[in-house]
Amino acid sequence: MVKESFGTDGRDNPVELFTLSNGNGTKVKISTLGATVVSFLFLDKTGTLRDVVLGYDSAEDYLKNNGLYFGASVGRCANRISNAKVTIDGVEYALEANSGSNNLHSGSNGISYKIWEVEHIDEEANCLALKIVSADLEQGFPGNMTIRAIFTLTEEDALHIEYQAVSDKTTIANFTNHSYFNLAGHDSGNISGQKLKLYAKAFTPLAPKDSIPTGEICSVEGTPFDFTDFKEIGRDIEATDKQITYARGYDHNFVLENQGELKLMAEAECEETGIHLYAYTDRPGVQLYTGNFIHGHMGKQGAFYGERHGFCLESQYYPDAFRHPDFQKPLILAGEAYKAHTVFRLKLKED
Ligand code: GLA
Repeated sequence: MVKESFGTDGRDNPVELFTLSNGNGTKVKISTLGATVVSFLFLDKTGTLRDVVLGYDSAEDYLKNNGLYFGASVGRCANRISNAKVTIDGVEYALEANSGSNNLHSGSNGISYKIWEVEHIDEEANCLALKIVSADLEQGFPGNMTIRAIFTLTEEDALHIEYQAVSDKTTIANFTNHSYFNLAGHDSGNISGQKLKLYAKAFTPLAPKDSIPTGEICSVEGTPFDFTDFKEIGRDIEATDKQITYARGYDHNFVLENQGELKLMAEAECEETGIHLYAYTDRPGVQLYTGNFIHGHMGKQGAFYGERHGFCLESQYYPDAFRHPDFQKPLILAGEAYKAHTVFRLKLKED
């Protein structure tokens, strides 16, 4: 595993970049800042190495653009918590209101932009385990929590991402990886022409304001949210459907049917490069986010990134679960082990 310097966290603490590579020439780069997937390089159908995730060239650039969560590990609670308040065991905890009056991705000063420690490297298994300790009431959440992000690249070009957490108090655990995929290459612009299939027959609609779920679970049938068969991501993205206009595109949680087992959540493909993505998770939901709020700016190697230049498949518990009786709660008891497993596998499409 190659280790390089990736800059600092702005306080002179060094950030490192690790490269996992397999025998096919596939490479995954992980930064210790935010346990972040910086690059996912794969040979396309013409033999060109394509980097299919958005990112930056240094830790400093990640810190500068910290509202976008490119490739980051997000937690302790991914997605939104309304009114930035949560009650656990009868005690109300105040969180940071960093998205209107709500909490998004646990606040602006979370694990996504902190340095994780290298806990373990297994060269043979091509595996990197990172760890971070989050103190009691850090970001407002109860319990001292030890969090691990374990990245493994297989010979089948699958990137396994496993999150593990344990706390000394009953608390929230809901971690996700926030990679933005562009299967034509990170520097190739709009993803609207790429095709997507989701293994979800239902989604959780949003209230008109602030992207908070209403609590309903609605069928995707006959709506722009129907990705049960491959469809161009952009086909219905300009629809006048209210749900689409609330989020300026897709930024919605889809209901998966995996019953807690690792199963396909999504597939995506790009015709020009022939790159096909298979995404698996054991989580109950996935947020499809189509990069609706990426402001035009510079990314890796001078690439221009703008609106809809990447799509995210954020495996998770449903957003704002504490307010909705039908949504499974992302809670763990003191001492209980939290584990979440998500896989992103790349493959060339067979013609
Ligand atoms: C998630 C949210 C989006 C946006 C991005 C980060 O996907 O659902 O609304 O906040 O993260 O920019």
